[in-house]
Amino acid sequence: MDGRDLVRSVRMVGSVQGMRTVRSAWRHRRADARALAPRGVERARVPGLLLGAEPEPGGGVVRFARSRLRIRVAVGGALFWSWDGAQASPSYALAGDEPEPDGRARLEPDKNGGWQVVSERLTVVVSRHGAVELRTPGGVLLRRELPPRWWEPVDGGAARWVQRSEVPADARFFGLGGRAGGPRLREGTYRLWNTDPGGRFGPGDDPLYLTMPVQVVVSDAGTHLAFHDNTWSGGVTLREGEEGAGSGHDRPGACEVRMDGGPLRCWVVVGTPARVLQGWTALTGAPALPPSWALGPQHARWGFGSEQEVRRIVSGYLERGLPLSALHLDIDHFDAHQVFTVDQERFPGLPRLAKELREEGVRLVSIVDPAVRASAGNAVFDSGREVGPRGAFVRDPQGVPVLGEVWPGACVYPDFTDPLVRRWWGTLYEERLGQGFSGVWHDMNEPVSFSAFGDPSLPLSSRHSLEGRGGDHREAHNVYALAMARAGYEGLRRLRPEERPFLFSRSGWAGMQRYGGTWSGDVATGWPGLRASLALVLGLGLCGVPYSGPDVGGFDGSPSPELYLRWFQLGAFMPLFRTHAAVDAGRREPWEFGPEVLAHAGRALAERERLRPYFVTLAQLARLTGAPYVRPVWWGASADRELRDCEDAFLLGDALLVAPVLEEGGVRRPVRLPRGRWYDTVTGQAYEGPGRVVVEAPLSRIPVLARAGAVIPVRGPEGRLELEVWAPPVGRTGGGLVVRDAGDGWERAEVERYTSRLRAGRVVVERDGEEGLVTCPVRVRGLAEPDQR
Ligand code: GLC
Repeated sequence: MDGRDLVRSVRMVGSVQGMRTVRSAWRHRRADARALAPRGVERARVPGLLLGAEPEPGGGVVRFARSRLRIRVAVGGALFWSWDGAQASPSYALAGDEPEPDGRARLEPDKNGGWQVVSERLTVVVSRHGAVELRTPGGVLLRRELPPRWWEPVDGGAARWVQRSEVPADARFFGLGGRAGGPRLREGTYRLWNTDPGGRFGPGDDPLYLTMPVQVVVSDAGTHLAFHDNTWSGGVTLREGEEGAGSGHDRPGACEVRMDGGPLRCWVVVGTPARVLQGWTALTGAPALPPSWALGPQHARWGFGSEQEVRRIVSGYLERGLPLSALHLDIDHFDAHQVFTVDQERFPGLPRLAKELREEGVRLVSIVDPAVRASAGNAVFDSGREVGPRGAFVRDPQGVPVLGEVWPGACVYPDFTDPLVRRWWGTLYEERLGQGFSGVWHDMNEPVSFSAFGDPSLPLSSRHSLEGRGGDHREAHNVYALAMARAGYEGLRRLRPEERPFLFSRSGWAGMQRYGGTWSGDVATGWPGLRASLALVLGLGLCGVPYSGPDVGGFDGSPSPELYLRWFQLGAFMPLFRTHAAVDAGRREPWEFGPEVLAHAGRALAERERLRPYFVTLAQLARLTGAPYVRPVWWGASADRELRDCEDAFLLGDALLVAPVLEEGGVRRPVRLPRGRWYDTVTGQAYEGPGRVVVEAPLSRIPVLARAGAVIPVRGPEGRLELEVWAPPVGRTGGGLVVRDAGDGWERAEVERYTSRLRAGRVVVERDGEEGLVTCPVRVRGLAEPDQR
């Protein structure tokens, strides 16, 4: 039992579920002790000496005494390498078929007795001992993989492995899924195991709900993403390098990936950050486009308690003229916490309520938990038992359904890695649609089983289908939520084909973006939690999951009015803008913190609504290019070291730089600017980057700077689309892309390209090179002259 276990068990014991969680933890421990033999004698192995090589399309296979290395460059530039003959498929991460090999990439002997594969963007050099270097076409080293090492149990079973890599001394690490301590990942070991931290979390808690073996490495030499396609538990240990460390020599950055089993195979994508994300989402799937309403303000709470309370909250928004797009119902609207049910006493007319709210422009979103109460008479349990030859639920090696403890009590868990189960689960959303819900919020899907000690999940020995291949929870755990998201997404598409599903999920894995987004989970109320909120959104965006956001105000307790306001102001610029809190937490409605906070929160809401067309554009661009809405400030300038270390601001698309207030009492703050001119969007003051400036951040707003030349689609008076154009400097052009709102269906919207430039002191805006093609009003900012077209 470690410290975290101790805290958990003290909290649990004495609670209603206390004793059951102790029993469940013992049950799980016993199950694993029985079914999983302790690791016996192991034999260590390294590749050994190089023997020869055979070309294959896109690269080839290099043979060593005790393993072989496959190298394949795909069309589009992504590199795949693997040991021991591992193939790229099957993979939970890849969106479809493996990309075609690039026939131009060739395997050839190199001058040091090794082999190399030369491709358009990358040269891969293999040494005689099995080290693999990735170099730019100019020969600059991006990453060096040292020969791996395996430990194989002599009596069979999964081999553990470790691989160390080196990166340039100036490199910074990002990614690994949602990490509260990021976005820049400091020295330390980051576990790869989706985990409910059991209550609220802060920057020091790791791992969290959504991990993935995706490293984004940014150095002067370039940016690359390395993805170890392996779903097993493991860990990544990072150490940043140091320039001129010892007698003037650089100490490279280091990274060590250790996995408890599974294949050693890796994809690498190189280029600018934008190219890397484009390549990564080409491999793992385009981000799902949320329906337009999901880009508006949303309000949730665990414990609304009744229809009356829901109406009261919605009226609270509407009567004050505050925009609200969606309201989320948590587990308290279920009958005794059972998924796909409704408490008919407190919510006797949900479909009617949903219809009324919809007429006011407010949608309802429902929580969906995977665990199903294990009792005959529960319709989901009963129908799940009839799925396929063995029923839908995860079983132990003896074939008995595995029980866990969740909100409804003793529960069973659908095995989403079974296609039949996914299909069945997808049909269950019909009940949600019938109740009038417009979207779903997947929760507790790491998956969680409350447990007084040990891992709060299923026993490792639990059996899963893994698409028919068969395996245990060690391999299936990390993709449980990803497969659940697939089930929900595909189910919703079948049930309501004319609308894009709205789905976001607490847990997930590489490729999650194909089905929806995610959110922070139970982020602790406090200034560190606010900072962690931004770290999570930035880190997830770099891993290909662009739609996410925090529980505004924090999950637990009661934020001070100032903290609430600063969180609200940050949230207004996040893709998912949602307040949420625990059942025993203080209120989170903007009017509960006094008139001053209400006024300022109202302003943040109004600005979000004004920027809605920009958010629609960013969502579309994320789908088309993989670029997250919320980007690190180094996005367009990854060689700028000062920017690489800047963690307290972000770019919203190409046009805006947002500098939230993350400290108590802050009313002005330093901002590190990328190159170019930037305007404070409120005062209009112009600043020249690169450099550091201090900007005002009164309680009424957080600083937002616009890039000179930017063309930003905004909602003008009467809801009409307008272009807000920030004057470009003399002699420079600016521009922007606009994708109009195509509603909530599947219609493909067109990307409109605008440019801006100064001509004789006047800002000229053109679409596709012609001024006459600009059909919406243009409002010029940042210029002394009056507004003009
Ligand atoms: C989990 C979720 C939280 C939700 C609660 C009750 O803690 O992270 O958002 O309110 O469960 O369903």
